[in-house]
Amino acid sequence: MSDSYCVFGNPVAHSKSPAIHRRFAAAAGQAMTYEAICAPLDAFAASVRAFIEGGGRGANVTVPFKEEAFRLCQRLSQRAERAGAVNTLIFNDHEIVGDNTDGAGLVRDITHNLGFALAGKRILLLGAGGAARGVIKPLLDASPERLFIANRSPEKAVALAASFVDLAAVGDGLRPSINGGKMAEITGKCFDLVINATSASLAGVSLPLPEAIFSPASLAYDMMYGKGETLFLQQARRQGASRCADGLGMLVEQAAEAFALWRGVVPESAPVLAELRSQLAA
Ligand code: ATR
Repeated sequence: MSDSYCVFGNPVAHSKSPAIHRRFAAAAGQAMTYEAICAPLDAFAASVRAFIEGGGRGANVTVPFKEEAFRLCQRLSQRAERAGAVNTLIFNDHEIVGDNTDGAGLVRDITHNLGFALAGKRILLLGAGGAARGVIKPLLDASPERLFIANRSPEKAVALAASFVDLAAVGDGLRPSINGGKMAEITGKCFDLVINATSASLAGVSLPLPEAIFSPASLAYDMMYGKGETLFLQQARRQGASRCADGLGMLVEQAAEAFALWRGVVPESAPVLAELRSQLAA
């Protein structure tokens, strides 16, 4: 019998994870199944237990269950602990282990797929919710010069930055600095990389980004993706960003990292990303 995996979400019918993992498995010759499970909003834990009892070996977790998954785990990776959320579950004999591969997926997409080195760079992270929190540790681990978190509610950005300050500079200049505040605080500052981790575009709203935050060499990265260029990337291009990327690569890379954790085999992500990209464009 092949090993079984799934993604839990609600809603989850739109999830690309089954297609991604089935392609990884076929290419890597791994005997496994992967399905999407829509867990009732009040019965995530029961759904996980039923899946384990049915022989499940691991799972991905998506909206709105990532924080609940975090609380369900008996053991957490350091990056999951920092993220305060879990997107990958590993079911061992007697315990549920939680990890978070979102940040690693983002960093891999930026550095490997887009060829943009993060060391020494000035990074602006827009948003201070769960999506932003999930990527901060992997970004700091890549040794940028500084990370500034800007958010509509500035107190959330300040608190979020403060909770990572132990990973950042203490004045020796060798580690990145991390700070947070309101959007207006970035007026007059220029960044090499601007990442949108807000959900503003879901509401069809543009962010109040000051002019001149992008240099001609800046990369604008939207953790969201969709058919055509996202609202944030359209705005970034208008404001002078020469390079723009959406979150489709992050989606595939976070899946690749989860697959490697489960199967001990690193799947080839490039053909899967290319296929998803052409489907999205069709
Ligand atoms: P997620 O888990 O996707 O990060 P979240 O925790 O609800 O979702 O966070 C959403 C983020 O998008 C927050 O940073 C939010 O700003 P606030 O903290 O001020 O709420 C940001 N956001 C959502 N809609 C926005 C809008 N119209 N303009 C600016 N920021 C917005």
